[in-house]
Amino acid sequence: MSDHKVYYNYIGGEWVPARSGKTYENRNPADTRDVIGIFPDSGAEDIAAAVAAAKEAYNAWRLVPAPKRGELLYRASQILQERKEQYANDMTREMGKVLAETRGDVQEAIDMGYFMAGEGRRLYGVTTPSELPNKFQMSVRQPLGVCGLITPWNFPMAIPSWKIFPALICGNTVVIKPAEDTPLSTYNFVQALVDAGVPKGVVNIVSGHGPTAGEPLVQHPDVKVISFTGSTEVGRHVSTLCAQQGKHVSLEMGGKNPMIIMDDADLDLVLAGAVWGAFGTTGQRCTATSRIIAHRSIVDELTSRIQAEAKTIQVGNGLLDGMQMGPSINEGQLNVVEKYVKIGREEGAELVLGGERLTDGDLGHGFFHQPTIFGNVKRNMRIAQEEIFGPVVSIIPVDSLEEAIDVANDVPYGLSSSIYTRNVNNAFIAMRDLYTGIVYVNAPTIGAEIHLPFGGTKGTGNGKREGGTQVLDTYSEWKSLYVDYSGGLQRAQIDNAE
Ligand code: UN1
Repeated sequence: MSDHKVYYNYIGGEWVPARSGKTYENRNPADTRDVIGIFPDSGAEDIAAAVAAAKEAYNAWRLVPAPKRGELLYRASQILQERKEQYANDMTREMGKVLAETRGDVQEAIDMGYFMAGEGRRLYGVTTPSELPNKFQMSVRQPLGVCGLITPWNFPMAIPSWKIFPALICGNTVVIKPAEDTPLSTYNFVQALVDAGVPKGVVNIVSGHGPTAGEPLVQHPDVKVISFTGSTEVGRHVSTLCAQQGKHVSLEMGGKNPMIIMDDADLDLVLAGAVWGAFGTTGQRCTATSRIIAHRSIVDELTSRIQAEAKTIQVGNGLLDGMQMGPSINEGQLNVVEKYVKIGREEGAELVLGGERLTDGDLGHGFFHQPTIFGNVKRNMRIAQEEIFGPVVSIIPVDSLEEAIDVANDVPYGLSSSIYTRNVNNAFIAMRDLYTGIVYVNAPTIGAEIHLPFGGTKGTGNGKREGGTQVLDTYSEWKSLYVDYSGGLQRAQIDNAE
């Protein structure tokens, strides 16, 4: 008998095992000897139970005044704040990113809760004058019902919070299926909601794998909205399934984010941004900087300075002091990194730094890889076109701003982009012409704040946004209301007069 902690699904206000009794182990990617816990390996029957509980709870929850719903969110954020250190530790253990980053992840959830709690007292609608006398009209948001949420492992508390909080404030109930690699952080988030007093059935969590638990959630006819964050390939599949039922869907998928460095950029500033943008979270952000598009006149100096800086990055177990970069999430992801390093070499890019898996001492028990830089990359090479989701960055030389923007936009994705320049005209041209959902000036492609819309163009999304008040459009529908207090048939009279 193992003495590992056993976790259960939370369905209809009860912590319950998978009906099949199946479980799986959650292990630390920095040290696979460390088992974090045993989680339910759920199936369609668990999803069905969770959806039924959420459907039942919706009847009462939708009628709770939105400011009251907001108070619950506020309490949940306060609880998260109290437990921030514990939850950040848990997250580093199961996801691998360093403590400074997991604290940031929990903080994003806290911020989202406070922001959406405030929305409980706004949820603004529209009033507008009528064409007719004695008639009033307005448009209000109405909730949709049960929301199915499928979340990734790279921000295992922040991203669930971007979906759960707005869904709840609008009056919906939810079933969330967290990534199988990082269920604990999402359990911790749900625990905070439970301790804040969320009524039973309003929030349900079911852990498991995509095909066996995620897909039944997408296909369940009583689920009215699906919000998915993950790969473009799976997102497209989710979208296809939703289309068959005419189901609302919000997708947040891949990225290949460019950072443009002009010849007038402050290179000291660039250095910090480029290294943090490329290697923060081990490159496992959809917003990670994966292409540095640099003016040819400064590219050699820039390359050698980034190389020198990236060489000093401390790679190791994120729970240890001084570590700056953790492991890849799992063996499969590390294999993808190694595959692209090989592809880059074969394509003739110049390996400037790294390129190897790290296996010395304790690192051999985890999925570690050196920070890796390719120089002299051509815009159409696979390493410059395809999402790697690891610590690999490509430096692409260009001759002008026009060419830089053209290269930047010439990928199938469009989440985030950035430009470093001291020329205000360059900055404004880039803000206008970079076709991404987010553009940074003199900052890396990462670091979005939750109260602005977050999302991407092209293969990154389907036109929806998370964050900001714009996210409310995913979790509500507009209802237009006309009140005629004339006591008569005004329209008919006017029509007749015409
Ligand atoms: C993600 O990688 O999916 O802007 C989210 C950022 C973070 C969120 C990243 N606030 O980099």
